[in-house]
Amino acid sequence: MAKDAVSVELECTRNPEYRDVDGGSVADNVPEEPEGKPYADAEYTQIQPYAGMPKEVLLLHSSKARYRVTREILFWLMVACTLALVTLTVTVIALSPRCLNWWQVSPVYQVYLQSFSDSDGDGVGDLKGLHEQLDHFQYLNIKSVWLSPFYRSPMRDSGYDVEDFGAIDPLFGTMNDFEELLAKMHSIGLKLIMDFIPNHTSDRHRWFNLSRATDPHYKDYYVWSDCNGSAPRPNNWLSVFGGSAWTYDEVRGQCYLHQFFKEQPELNFRNPHVRKEMTDIIHFWLGKGVDGFRMGSVKHLLEAAHLRDEPQVDPNKAPETVVSEGDLYHDHTISQLGLHDLLRDWRAQMEAYSREPGRYRFMVTESYDYKEVDKTMMYYGTSLVKESDFPFNFYLLDLPQNTSGLWVQHLVQLWMDNMPEGQWANWLVGNHDQPRIASTAGQPYIRVINMLLLTLPGTPTTYYGEEIGMENINVTDSQAQDPAGKYNASASRDPQRSPMQWSGDMNAGFNNKTNTTWLPVHPDYSSINVEVQKEDEGSVLAQYRFLNTLRQSELTLQRGWFCSVHSDANVFSYLRELDGLDRAFLMVLNFGKEPAVTDLSSVAGLPDQLTVLKSTNQVSDGKAVQKSRILTEAGEGLVIQYSTDTRFHPNHLEQCYVSEKACYLSFVDILYKC
Ligand code: NOJ
Repeated sequence: MAKDAVSVELECTRNPEYRDVDGGSVADNVPEEPEGKPYADAEYTQIQPYAGMPKEVLLLHSSKARYRVTREILFWLMVACTLALVTLTVTVIALSPRCLNWWQVSPVYQVYLQSFSDSDGDGVGDLKGLHEQLDHFQYLNIKSVWLSPFYRSPMRDSGYDVEDFGAIDPLFGTMNDFEELLAKMHSIGLKLIMDFIPNHTSDRHRWFNLSRATDPHYKDYYVWSDCNGSAPRPNNWLSVFGGSAWTYDEVRGQCYLHQFFKEQPELNFRNPHVRKEMTDIIHFWLGKGVDGFRMGSVKHLLEAAHLRDEPQVDPNKAPETVVSEGDLYHDHTISQLGLHDLLRDWRAQMEAYSREPGRYRFMVTESYDYKEVDKTMMYYGTSLVKESDFPFNFYLLDLPQNTSGLWVQHLVQLWMDNMPEGQWANWLVGNHDQPRIASTAGQPYIRVINMLLLTLPGTPTTYYGEEIGMENINVTDSQAQDPAGKYNASASRDPQRSPMQWSGDMNAGFNNKTNTTWLPVHPDYSSINVEVQKEDEGSVLAQYRFLNTLRQSELTLQRGWFCSVHSDANVFSYLRELDGLDRAFLMVLNFGKEPAVTDLSSVAGLPDQLTVLKSTNQVSDGKAVQKSRILTEAGEGLVIQYSTDTRFHPNHLEQCYVSEKACYLSFVDILYKC
């Protein structure tokens, strides 16, 4: 039986047509099967390998040392290659700088909702109005929009006095309007950042009503202290807007603390229930799909429990005349221990929603720390515990104090010198609390300031209207809206909150239904508006759009080195270059009052002959300049693009900064951390 099986197999595998190299047939090489017994091993060894050889022959040959060793070498080579490939891939991934996130790529554009676009003609901007204007962001290539508060509110502080954190104020629309807006924004690639106002509520909030009625659960939701209507306040603490930070409440018969208006009682974050309420609010809006939060007034979140007086700046001043915020050192009311723990906890909540690709939730904090830049930098968190993606950088607000190149360089370096390693910068020159930059620095400087913001490393912030150079309005007493102007008219924030200037039509196109606007429209609206500037290639708007698009298409402007190369009474000049890329950018910005000739002959890698890519003065676009004689008029800025393979930064590291250090390997088109 066994014999039969072998012979059948040999029959099948033997191919009589096959000829070996000598022309012999296979059959010639195969010994005849001996009568009565199958092939013996010894006999197989005589057989040369041939195509179609039987298994036994094949096994015999393949186990010979020369085949076995070759096979093993090839096997281990393959294992080694696979391992090397895996290691290389992991290394490249580990070394690669992270892809820039959405909040790094685009400027953050602040929409002050009341003033942006009014869809129903009640004189106040609203969610539907914003929805109708989304094309504006696409036109400007803006991807991130920060929206001022739209929660239900009695509007004592323009919505920063919240009556219900889970509801939309009817002035702005409905929850449905909000959801439609958000869905539309996401569908066209826009992100929405909300205002989060944890420090206080409105005095009309349900919690406050229950707290003043000493409801057992709510009685400690706010900061209360004994006092009575006529007796002195619990201590000398002052409101940011002037006057005592304490107000007597007749219902409860005690004083409550408010660091802002008296209609904004301060929440007590030492109460775990308050902390839980705030976390729930974060979850509520993240669950709705918002892309991040601007966390307001964070330095005020906690106060010292001992309630001791704060020291006077001028100890000789009579205590009853100490009424302005600047009269005290705020040792017990701002930046208290525990504040960063609160923020880090909120950040951790946000992280849980950030895990899906493309769904990163962004956090920016608002804290004016004036000369204490180190306090601002603490909002970045640490290398182990994350906090804000960046704190707002308010230092450029001082730019108009001294329009000179040296001053601007100082303000820029202040941030870059102090920013923790590997973090991402932010630049802004305005918001709803600050006078408009076009008014404080002057209209002739608005283009060069926009050019600065859009070419520095980090995320620029644009307050609505800065892209067209909108200015402050004058507000008469009868038109005034902001109670902050009550103690001091110059503290009013109405001038910078006027309706957006869309066109030369009625109400500047802010609304076209009635002649009402909650604040007057600026009288210059017929010449300074979006529609007119879209038609003018040399407009502030056209320049903004060009530079923003350039910034987003050039890796060098996004993540390259920033190196100061020159500053004087007029000019501030800097380079942007990225290792491995030969295309670099030189900015020469004249913030002074005089024309200037700048000599950059000593700057390594800069070709002698340069060409202006973009000037704030359109006629200079494309102009050739000598690096030893770069002329700029007062308020003029130049972006010069050039090619070089000589890097400036290796010898000038003290003048150079980079948010995220990246090198580039051109032959494989790869960026890596270096
Ligand atoms: C910060 C806001 O920016 C400001 O407008 C408001 O008045 C204060 N927080 C108080 O809510």
